Amino acid sequence: MSGLPGHVACVMDGNGRWAEQRSLPRTAGHRAAEAAVIEVIETAYAVGIPWLSLFAFSTENWRRPGGEVGFLMRLVQRSVRKHAMSLHARGIRCRFLGDSDARIPASLAGDIADLVTLTRANTRMTLTVAFDHGGRRDIVSAARSLIRDKVPAERVTEETFARHLPHPDTPDVDLVIRTSGEQRISNFMLWQVAYAEWMFPEVLWPDFRAAHLWECLDAYRRRERRFGDVHLPTTTRKG
Ligand code: IPE
Ligand code: IPE
Ligand code: MG
Repeated sequence: MSGLPGHVACVMDGNGRWAEQRSLPRTAGHRAAEAAVIEVIETAYAVGIPWLSLFAFSTENWRRPGGEVGFLMRLVQRSVRKHAMSLHARGIRCRFLGDSDARIPASLAGDIADLVTLTRANTRMTLTVAFDHGGRRDIVSAARSLIRDKVPAERVTEETFARHLPHPDTPDVDLVIRTSGEQRISNFMLWQVAYAEWMFPEVLWPDFRAAHLWECLDAYRRRERRFGDVHLPTTTRKG
């Protein structure tokens, strides 16, 4: 399939509303989200998308009630343990984007580190899980790193700055899909989404399936990306 995005990122939103619609606790929505996560990874993998990023927990999500946060931590830990071998068997390199906040349980941090180490040499696809992630925090961390490295002000360009971000080899995001109809960035990969195409399907994340991803990919192919330029058919462009 031509015209595929090289880097797709999903803001997996709507778990709580999915549960509320069924008169279930919000945690039931998070549990139901796992099926969507697996289907999106499988589909992106099958289609041949080389970079997939999933927003699983934001720096702001620590504001949620302790019970919900604890549930999410346990859920992520269970998923990491359950799917580590199958992700590795498929040649998927797994990464986590986010600080190792002291509030993350040590055993979960250990399982995450094991998964990253296990899959670090894989090359078929890179799956980045944005977990305890904040776009602004990443930008601040790059600024700190430049200062620590004593990079002179005149040598700070967009390129050098980007090299100081966490996981600096991550390419710009081409397509962001935010489910549930909410239309905001919520501090997600701020640097990397600068020129991304955005899609806001109304479907709640636990109901997101391969067909929804296909629709987004299809719509992406029909978008015209200009990057600030004017529209010109490539055949007529001179110099
Ligand atoms: C997204 O679903 C999951 C996380 C933020 C962890 P929400 O929990 O935000 O669901 P809504 O937005 O309340 O429906
Ligand atoms: C963004 O969703 C974070 C994740 C999907 C993990 P939120 O539901 O936390 O964002 P807001 O609060 O609606 O902006
Ligand atoms: Mg939400």
